[in-house]
Amino acid sequence: MAATNYAHIVGWGIALPETVMTNEDLAAIVETSDEWIMARTGIKTRRIANDRESTATLGLKAAQQALDVADILPIELDLIIVATSTPESIFPSTASLIQDWLGAGSAGAFDLSAACSGFVYALDMAAQAIRSGSIKTAIVIGSETMSRVMDWQDRGTCILFGDGAGAVVLQARDTIGGVLSSVLRSDGSGHDLLGIPSVGSLDIQISALALQGRKPFKMHMAGGEVFKFATRVIGESLEQAAIKAGITLRDLKLIVPHQANERIIQAAARQLDLDRQLFMTNLEHYGNTSAASIPIALVEAIQQGRVTENDYIALVGFGGGLTWASIIVQWSGPLGENRFGPQRRQFTYALAAWRARLRRFIRRYTDLFNRIRPKHGRMLRLRKRIEQRINDI
Ligand code: COA
Repeated sequence: MAATNYAHIVGWGIALPETVMTNEDLAAIVETSDEWIMARTGIKTRRIANDRESTATLGLKAAQQALDVADILPIELDLIIVATSTPESIFPSTASLIQDWLGAGSAGAFDLSAACSGFVYALDMAAQAIRSGSIKTAIVIGSETMSRVMDWQDRGTCILFGDGAGAVVLQARDTIGGVLSSVLRSDGSGHDLLGIPSVGSLDIQISALALQGRKPFKMHMAGGEVFKFATRVIGESLEQAAIKAGITLRDLKLIVPHQANERIIQAAARQLDLDRQLFMTNLEHYGNTSAASIPIALVEAIQQGRVTENDYIALVGFGGGLTWASIIVQWSGPLGENRFGPQRRQFTYALAAWRARLRRFIRRYTDLFNRIRPKHGRMLRLRKRIEQRINDI
């Protein structure tokens, strides 16, 4: 193990659907108003995925942008983690799809489920893998299509959420900095406060959902309880993470909280006696994008010039589980070396698409041939040889 590995954030990207849903649009669906939503949440608009957009396509777009900023090739990735509560399917993982589309042939890939804390959890997993010396480069993506799991008749939840994705590239460097500390926590006794009943759910098995006023695959939430929980854990976990990093909250240049509710952020700032301006917010435009909210806000903070080299910044997430998590990062930024340029990556993506098509074609036809002549091993050997060649491209 190399003791000098530090996990630095060297690339970042976001993807947001074009379709904007305003509070007025919502007022046409449920009994609500712009005034009520703004006063209680601070949210004005949110983005909604169209028919061609999904958690995977948004995640891919954010990942490609992050690779461009880092100027690395997909083949250099060792690990892809997608934090999401709205995966493309229960399995295979959304991360595996993105791995294929990127052509990241040397990467492991998996989804991580920790609701709105997911991105911070995933960032910590990837950073720990880098710190241990087991991998060098990882991409961490938070991607959600919350609009697909909304109960559009429930005004207590559908006004809050939106769709989008954000991603960061983490890379090993021997200079001190990057992800310095983390605090991950969970309190499963609150699992009934916020969630999406799914396949395997005990609730579905005993057909008790209707009694509880819940719908399968649709989000439910006890808003008031979640509000109280959120205001309590933000301060607590930020303080713990700062102590672990050997700094105080006064040393922070920026705090990127999960973008759930303006009032939650104001309450946390008051509780910690910190200037509200220290907290990055963009929830007015995008609402709560769950695991995507922190990377989207982080990227916009970078684009607004709110972080410079060596700044201490904190990310803090909270949500279903219940889960909560904080991370302290000493900012470094991209390597600044011009290594490949975007055209080389575009070529890699095109090649990856052809390679995947060819693999599927070979699988289909060799299986068909083997079904007709089960003992004929020549076709299988040929398939193996061709697949080896494809892997080498
Ligand atoms: N428009 C208009 N009225 C609404 C409404 C809406 N969208 N949603 C609820 N109301 C009504 C309620 O029915 C209730 O009416 P009543 O007094 O006649 O019964 C009233 O407004 C107050 O409801 P309440 O739920 O107490 O409001 P609130 O101030 O707690 O705000 C939330 C509701 C959801 C905005 C708030 O609880 C919240 O933000 N919670 C945290 C949610 C969160 O961030 N979740 C994600 C964490 S990851």
